[in-house]
Amino acid sequence: MKAGFLILAALLALTSSSSAFDPSPLQDFCVAINDSKSGVFVNGMFCKDPTRATPNDFFFSVKEGNTSNPLGSKVTPVAVTEIPGLNTLGISLARIDFARKGLNPPHSHPRGTEILIVLEGTLYVGFVTSNPENRLITKVLNKGDVFVFPIGLIHFQLNVGYGNAAAIAGLSSQNPGVTTIANAVFGSDPSISSQVLTKAFQVDKNVVDYLQKQFWWDNN
Ligand SMILES: *[C@@H]1O[C@H](CO)[C@@H](O)[C@H](O)[C@H]1NC(C)=O
Ligand SMILES: *[C@@H]1O[C@H](CO)[C@@H](O)[C@H](O)[C@H]1NC(C)=O
Repeated sequence: MKAGFLILAALLALTSSSSAFDPSPLQDFCVAINDSKSGVFVNGMFCKDPTRATPNDFFFSVKEGNTSNPLGSKVTPVAVTEIPGLNTLGISLARIDFARKGLNPPHSHPRGTEILIVLEGTLYVGFVTSNPENRLITKVLNKGDVFVFPIGLIHFQLNVGYGNAAAIAGLSSQNPGVTTIANAVFGSDPSISSQVLTKAFQVDKNVVDYLQKQFWWDNN
């Protein structure tokens, strides 16, 4: 039994190294635990013995996000960190709350496509295709509307309604990751050299200095 489980783990490791996406699960589930002595290492997490899985390994309760911040938005992820039972299953979600005029700023998910449904309010959303077209594809969404943001592409959501807005995003990874463009480019630690940024953005050093001095809020 134990040997079979280890072979399965080895197979999974091989599969994941040859694929850019989460591998398909080879068992019903693989609950993540944080103790190497009682688990095997699969797909980035240690797995619990399936017979010891509990309902809470598959459960999480999402509260409304606090949008009192400079962006007026809050992303509440529900990924493998929040639900260990998501380990190896290639799926997660996030709730996004928006204050009036709140923005989920341009960002990308390196490991997941996103499908978003608006629960409340009106959102102006969009994504930009990759080079060389860099085509902007946008839509205004109302309650019940669904929109897709393909994996890796830079996208955003802005509340253009008269009240708060809320949405749920499904993501095709247990851990889709997020890179917020402004935070990564102007708020990296350590800073990217201004020689790089002045040339990349074709602006003077004082513009780069100004942008690097800002506090880039992370709404995740
Ligand atoms: C997992 O274990 C490490 C090392 O003991 C610890 O630093 C970390 O906080 C633990 N994470 C969780 C989610 O319990
Ligand atoms: C929301 O965040 C603000 C700013 O950090 C804080 O002052 C306020 O107490 C928070 N509200 C709730 C309901 O947690």
